[in-house]
Amino acid sequence: MKIAIGADHGGFLLKEALKPYLVQAGHTVIDVGAPSDEPSDYPDIAAMVAQKVMRADSDRGIVICGSGVGACVAANKFPRIRASVCHDTYSAHQGVEHDDMNVLCLGARIIGEALAKDIVSSFISAKFAADVERYKRRLDKVLDIERRFSADNT
Ligand code: RB5
Repeated sequence: MKIAIGADHGGFLLKEALKPYLVQAGHTVIDVGAPSDEPSDYPDIAAMVAQKVMRADSDRGIVICGSGVGACVAANKFPRIRASVCHDTYSAHQGVEHDDMNVLCLGARIIGEALAKDIVSSFISAKFAADVERYKRRLDKVLDIERRFSADNT
């Protein structure tokens, strides 16, 4: 799987720890930055990850900031992005299976590296259950909201 990953200064160290973990698991990692823990702005990073996923240059995205919240808010501004903060493994796989979440947001000040790896693994391994009518119906409703209320700048 092709995975775009990005982090601001608050998430830089966790991003660096997750990259080799993903590569070792057989994935292609696209690191959009930041390149160091020098102060950077989470909307810039979230935008780069979100655009990779929105344009199908990546299958999934991971954005890390201090809490995960700012990155999540910014990523969800992009069409076709369904981002969520998940700090437990259940949400990380259920969010994909039921809601077709395609961007995982993590807060490096909230969770440690070992839990982050388990969460990432749950997220990456999960697939949307498109054959379950109610999940498909609900996703279609979300997409309809996006169509009706968002400007399409792609
Ligand atoms: C940066 O200090 C911090 O505000 C940012 O990483 C993030 O937590 C925002 O949600």
